[in-house]
Amino acid sequence: MKKFLAILASTLMAVSLIGCGSDTSAGEPAAEPAAEPATQEAAPAAETSGDSDLSTKKVGVCIYQFSDNFMTLFRTELENYLISLGFAKENITIQDGANDQATQTGQIETFIADGVDVLIVNPVNSSSAATITDKVVEAGIPLVYINREPDADEEKRWEDNKWNVTYVGCDARQSGTMQGEIIADLGLDAIDFNGNGKVDYIMIEGDPENVDAQYRTEFSVKALEDAGLEVNCLSDQVGNWDQTQGQQLCANALGQFGNDVEVVFCNNDAMALGAKQAIADAGRTVGTDIYLVGVDALTEVCEDVLSGAITGTVFNDHIAQSHSAADAAVNFLTGAGNEYYIGCDYVKVTKDNAQSILDSLG
Ligand code: BGC
Repeated sequence: MKKFLAILASTLMAVSLIGCGSDTSAGEPAAEPAAEPATQEAAPAAETSGDSDLSTKKVGVCIYQFSDNFMTLFRTELENYLISLGFAKENITIQDGANDQATQTGQIETFIADGVDVLIVNPVNSSSAATITDKVVEAGIPLVYINREPDADEEKRWEDNKWNVTYVGCDARQSGTMQGEIIADLGLDAIDFNGNGKVDYIMIEGDPENVDAQYRTEFSVKALEDAGLEVNCLSDQVGNWDQTQGQQLCANALGQFGNDVEVVFCNNDAMALGAKQAIADAGRTVGTDIYLVGVDALTEVCEDVLSGAITGTVFNDHIAQSHSAADAAVNFLTGAGNEYYIGCDYVKVTKDNAQSILDSLG
């Protein structure tokens, strides 16, 4: 009984119900996402020295959570690239926000007190961006946001005030669309194992603090509908970008809906790796009686796409994004300035190109 209660408690903890359909109120991000890039205009570098000796410049980097697989790839590449540009390793400090905004805000305050020359911030709560921006701008430090996009009002403030603040990231609507297209391209006959004429799917969502979760959910389904397919959402829940939670949610859905689950959409690859395990545990076979897609193109997932254990993924280019973030930091330091939004394209990954994506990851 005790064991049962423990399992029940951990299941309840892992499961945060969102529900199917367009009403995602329980999982909506705290703030409206920026619908369009704020501007293409370059921000002037009002407060920077124009001194381009990078070896003496101090860079503070805040990551929302070190245990996130994708952000681990991102921060490793960011540090290496900063060093290749001429920054000294000892002048680059990277802090783990441990998924707690108060902790991260404290780290930002310490960076300000230490007199860093530029800050790169992956916010824990994108809804806290205005508070973070105010502190950093007041201290005269240029700021590059990454991965979790602040809302449109916040981005407009940077432009209106001509602050040295920018955002570097990809438009997650594109990744959602690509996930949907990977499934739609299979054709209804291949997908419709239960013969009800619909694509019966489950959705496993990331933490709504990153607007990527909302966009990937919405646009993956929209791509199916745009391809003329009828969809049926069996379950839509939040797995917080986490492999263990993804596995648990997928196992629960497979237990509840059995062979009716034809497609498992995961907002990222970590949760897809969890879902892959749950699918195997349920005696199902990807590509034979179920399909599974993620986003990020982690090495392990590209290998799974090649072997057929995962149907497809979408490359979330951490290399291009980390380089753009570092380049933006340099542009602020040298006085060149930046646009207020710096974008990047996703790449669809299927069996056809998974090897070349793997090769490009090195
Ligand atoms: C990635 C996820 C990651 C999240 C962190 C997303 O863009 O696809 O894997 O967990 O960012 O905010």
